[in-house]
Amino acid sequence: MASLVHFTTLVLFYVLIAVVVAIGPTLGTGSTKLATTSSLEMEAEALLHIGWWHWDANHNPELCQWQGISCNEAGSVTGIDRSWSSLTGSIPPQIGAFSSLKYLNLSLNSLTGELPQSLGKLTHLKELNLSHNSFEGSIPLGWGNLKSLKLLDLSHNQITGPVLSTLGNLTNLKLLDLSDNQITGHVPSTLGNLTNLKLLDLSHNQITSPIPSTLGNLTNLKLLDLSNNQITGHVPSTLGNLTNLKRLDLSHNQITSPIPSTLGNLTNLKLLDLSDNQITGHVPSTLGNLTNLKLLDLSGNQITGPIPSTLGNLTNLKLLYFTSNKISSFIPLELGNMMSLVVLLLNENKLEGSIPYEIGNLKNLVALNLSNNNLNDRIPQSLTTLSKLSYLYLGFKFSTRSNSSKNKLNGLVPSSLANLSSLSYLFLDSNLLKGPLPSQIGGCSNLRILSLSNNHINGSIPSEIFSCCRHTLNLSHNFIEGEIPHQFDNDDNIYILDLSHNNLTGMIPDFSWRLEELNLSYNSLEGPIPEYLSSQFSSDSFGGNKYLCGNLPDFAPCLSKSSNKLKIVEIILPVLCFLAFLALGILLFLRSRAKDNIPEPNVTKNGDLFSILNFDGRIAFEDIIEATNDFDIRYCIGTGGYGSVYRAQLPSGKVVALKKLHRREAEVLAFGKSFKNEAKILSEIRHKNIVKLHGFCLHNRCMFLIYEYMARGSLFCVLAYDNEAMELDWIKRVKIIKDTACALSYLHHDCHPPIVHRDISSNNILLNSNLEACVSDFGTARLIDPDSSNRTMLVGTYGYIAPGQVSKL
Ligand SMILES: *[C@@H]1O[C@H](CO)[C@@H](O)[C@H](O)[C@H]1NC(C)=O
Ligand SMILES: *[C@@H]1O[C@H](CO)[C@@H](O)[C@H](O)[C@H]1NC(C)=O
Ligand SMILES: *[C@@H]1O[C@H](CO)[C@@H](O)[C@H](O)[C@H]1NC(C)=O
Ligand SMILES: *[C@@H]1O[C@H](CO)[C@@H](O)[C@H](O)[C@H]1NC(C)=O
Ligand SMILES: *[C@@H]1O[C@H](CO)[C@@H](O)[C@H](O)[C@H]1NC(C)=O
Ligand SMILES: *[C@@H]1O[C@H](CO)[C@@H](O)[C@H](O)[C@H]1NC(C)=O
Ligand SMILES: *[C@@H]1O[C@H](CO)[C@@H](O)[C@H](O)[C@H]1NC(C)=O
Ligand SMILES: *[C@@H]1O[C@H](CO)[C@@H](O)[C@H](O)[C@H]1NC(C)=O
Ligand SMILES: *[C@@H]1O[C@H](CO)[C@@H](O)[C@H](O)[C@H]1NC(C)=O
Ligand SMILES: *[C@@H]1O[C@H](CO)[C@@H](O)[C@H](O)[C@H]1NC(C)=O
Ligand SMILES: *[C@@H]1O[C@H](CO)[C@@H](O)[C@H](O)[C@H]1NC(C)=O
Ligand SMILES: *[C@@H]1O[C@H](CO)[C@@H](O)[C@H](O)[C@H]1NC(C)=O
Repeated sequence: MASLVHFTTLVLFYVLIAVVVAIGPTLGTGSTKLATTSSLEMEAEALLHIGWWHWDANHNPELCQWQGISCNEAGSVTGIDRSWSSLTGSIPPQIGAFSSLKYLNLSLNSLTGELPQSLGKLTHLKELNLSHNSFEGSIPLGWGNLKSLKLLDLSHNQITGPVLSTLGNLTNLKLLDLSDNQITGHVPSTLGNLTNLKLLDLSHNQITSPIPSTLGNLTNLKLLDLSNNQITGHVPSTLGNLTNLKRLDLSHNQITSPIPSTLGNLTNLKLLDLSDNQITGHVPSTLGNLTNLKLLDLSGNQITGPIPSTLGNLTNLKLLYFTSNKISSFIPLELGNMMSLVVLLLNENKLEGSIPYEIGNLKNLVALNLSNNNLNDRIPQSLTTLSKLSYLYLGFKFSTRSNSSKNKLNGLVPSSLANLSSLSYLFLDSNLLKGPLPSQIGGCSNLRILSLSNNHINGSIPSEIFSCCRHTLNLSHNFIEGEIPHQFDNDDNIYILDLSHNNLTGMIPDFSWRLEELNLSYNSLEGPIPEYLSSQFSSDSFGGNKYLCGNLPDFAPCLSKSSNKLKIVEIILPVLCFLAFLALGILLFLRSRAKDNIPEPNVTKNGDLFSILNFDGRIAFEDIIEATNDFDIRYCIGTGGYGSVYRAQLPSGKVVALKKLHRREAEVLAFGKSFKNEAKILSEIRHKNIVKLHGFCLHNRCMFLIYEYMARGSLFCVLAYDNEAMELDWIKRVKIIKDTACALSYLHHDCHPPIVHRDISSNNILLNSNLEACVSDFGTARLIDPDSSNRTMLVGTYGYIAPGQVSKL
């Protein structure tokens, strides 16, 4: 309804114009006025038809006051600026009606369709900005008539087709920006006629074929950007005539052949980017004349030969990128003169010799990348004086870009690196660095990544390292020994930790931080894998460690010494009393059974022994305490449902395994019962495929069993690690099954009464160093009264329970 009202006002408005036009002649105005009026009428009509002024059309009868419209004194539209106005649809051909139009700015809209041919009629047009729209199709042929055009910006559209050679007629052009389109074909040589051009940007298109040498006539050019096309051929030497150029960007093309030495004449150049082409030949020494350069990027080419020493004259250069070329020979020490240099990237080349001491003069340097070269010798001490240095890459990093060389830097890791308080990224991988890590490294308090893999570092890990390294620590493939340090007073810092392929020993410490990646494989670590690690990381993180295993289904953290410390004084008296009593009991028990297959146990005489069975020596309680340092976590090699397993070397040299009930579990009757059950059963039987019990201590405050030590741990563990599982070929696996079957057959048929194990799982089959299998863990085993059918209780490891038992649920 409202629009109808507006339409009516519009009609009235037109009637008014018509009346003015009609009475014009009668008022005696000249015929020229008539012509102007009729063209004004056409413009008014065009404005309405174009339809970008809905609000104004309904509210404002004065066209020249509509949004973005400018008029001359005669009332003719000279400027349209509807930039950033959410305009949609295409430009109607009526746009050609504005014969006085000087500028048209429709940038930053959502206009679509073809560029209007009718614009070619607007011979007064000086500035045309249609950038940041979605125009399609090619530039209309008729636009070659826009002789007044000074500024043509069609960037950021979807314009296709070639750059018309007729554009070479627009000799008043100062700015031609056709970047970010889909323009194909070649750069017309006629563009060389646009001698007023200051800016020529044809970047981000699909232009092919070589750069015309005529562009060398555009001596007023300040910016020439032909980057990100498919331009082939060579850089014309005539470009050396463009002495006003400030930016020359020919990057990301397929330019071949060498850099013309004439570019050394472009002494106003601030940016020279020829990166990512297939440029061959040497770096011309004339580039040393470009003393205004701030950025020189020649990376990603096939440039050979040395770095010219003249580049040392580029004292304003901030960024020098020569990455990924075939640049050889020595790093010229003149580079030390480039006092403004902030980033120096020479990585992925064939540079040889040593890192010049003079690099240490580049006091503004923030990033230095010399990775993947053929450098050798030591890391110069002078580098450690670069107080702004944040990125230092001197090692090898895998790269898909080129066939990478490897540096062979040797000597020690300089302890003065710790002076680099700004250092965030330090990559020294795959060199020949030796010696221990300096503990001073902790001074690098801003370090995010420290990567020293594949060197010859030995010694132990200084605990200070954790107070500097905030994100990634990679010390893999070295010869580092000792334990992983415990004191990490920094909070939640390291997320990626790779200590693999070293010779670390001891237990995995309690990492207080959140780890994203962890690799501890191929060391000599022992003990259990803490549950919070085994639940997050696969066996790849832990493989290749002899005794490390934590993939038990009911995995619990090993007893920590501090929280569960058993004071000898606290237990020794009751234990001794108990042992004496127990041993006597067992002796009587065994005598009464008078079984042939059980030898005489060694029994206590003066209270310092406890029960010993099947063992050729004597084990003193004190020996056990001493050998495990009072059940220190360091000797813990696994943790199960209710106890931990320790490895103990007795004074005789014999190694035994101890299964100790957790103290809190010892107070639970059921667990104590199962422990006693195991002691009882195992002391009554003997078979080469049943784990041998050497002794036990069954005091309710300290319960443990002593077994023969099975070097390879459980079958589960062996199968859990790819490399170990691989060693276990089918012949060995069949033998393990046979061994297990022998043990079961013995239990079921040769024992009277028969014994049922009730929990046969890969966790309970242990392997010795010859991969012979022994059945273990008789905690739930039972002596079966053949006449009884009382077998209802469900016991065992979930997933391994006999089907007959499950059906009783
Ligand atoms: C549109 O272009 C004209 C001339 O090219 C210019 O004066 C005006 O500032 C531009 N408008 C915007 C919003 O940039
Ligand atoms: C064209 O318009 C865009 C967006 O308003 C602006 O960024 C650009 O500078 C203009 N082009 C010229 C040459 O003024
Ligand atoms: C415009 O350029 C074309 C091709 O370069 C040429 O053939 C034509 O004569 C020129 N037209 C004018 C009016 O200069
Ligand atoms: C424009 O350039 C072309 C090719 O470089 C040339 O043949 C032609 O004569 C030039 N036209 C004018 C008017 O300078
Ligand atoms: C433009 O450059 C070409 C090639 O470099 C040259 O032959 C021609 O004479 C130049 N034209 C003018 C007008 O300078
Ligand atoms: C432009 O450069 C070329 C090649 O370097 C040279 O032969 C020619 O004389 C230069 N033209 C002008 C006008 O400087
Ligand atoms: C441009 O550089 C070349 C080669 O370096 C040189 O021969 C020539 O004289 C220089 N031209 C000018 C105008 O400086
Ligand atoms: C440019 O550099 C070259 C080679 O380094 C040198 O011979 C020449 O004199 C320099 N030209 C100017 C104008 O500085
Ligand atoms: C540029 O460097 C070279 C070599 O280092 C030197 O011989 C020459 O004098 C320097 N030129 C200027 C203009 O500083
Ligand atoms: C340093 O060089 C290596 C090897 O080319 C590369 O992987 C790494 O990303 C580079 N780092 C920086 C900061 O340039
Ligand atoms: C890498 O080196 C091999 C052998 O030298 C060669 O065949 C291959 O083409 C090279 N690849 C690259 C990307 O340089
Ligand atoms: C690892 O350390 C142990 C004991 O410290 C030593 O016997 C062994 O030779 C070392 N292994 C390697 C590969 O250095």
